[in-house]
Amino acid sequence: AAPKATNIVWHEGAISREERIRFAGQRGFTLWFTGLSASGKSTIAAALEQFLLARGLKAYRLDGDNIRFGLNRDLGFSAADRKENIRRISEVAKLFSDASVIALTSFISPYASDRDDARRLHDEAGVPFIEVFVDVPIDVAERRDPKGLYKKARAGLIKGFTGIDDPYEPPAHAEIHIRSDLVGIDAAVQHIFEYLVQRKLI
Ligand code: PPS
Repeated sequence: AAPKATNIVWHEGAISREERIRFAGQRGFTLWFTGLSASGKSTIAAALEQFLLARGLKAYRLDGDNIRFGLNRDLGFSAADRKENIRRISEVAKLFSDASVIALTSFISPYASDRDDARRLHDEAGVPFIEVFVDVPIDVAERRDPKGLYKKARAGLIKGFTGIDDPYEPPAHAEIHIRSDLVGIDAAVQHIFEYLVQRKLI
């Protein structure tokens, strides 16, 4: 959508992307984790963030629950609010990756069209976008239920809970696919790391 404001003019700045990468000593990109609640996306993203930082790379994690305490505290879980949640996160992730930081986002991001919009935004800005599908059968996620939310949703205490009475649209073309019930956290981190090395992103 076009901006609401009129009389605004884009300012190009004085530094090119390649110069920025040279000064920063690394390329930025976005690793977009998506998956059901309790799929393990936050755990894997947090472990990967630590792994990358320990290797001298600048990485920063944007996480569902945390962002909803601040930037997105005005948003709930209706389809429109989830869309706006993902739109804002995409913009923030793009800013981080444009600034040569590795942005790790872990949001359910249940709707394929919202994830596609996030990808398009990155494509248009010329920053790499890597979708990581943290895949787990719903019954496994429900058994894990670390926050007791599936139980509440089943009891009708939460309406519109992803996977119960709100849809999760699995990615058809995620760059990375992790079955978190079949591989451990360290193996998942290693798998993503190898992908990044292979693609010459790090
Ligand atoms: S979304 O769909 O991408 O906008 O959601 P996200 O910002 O990632 O927030 C998901 C976390 O919010 C909690 N929660 C819910 N999830 C799904 N559906 C409903 N209705 C809901 N209500 C609260 C839940 O703790 C999610 O955290 P994770 O880390 O995914 O388990």
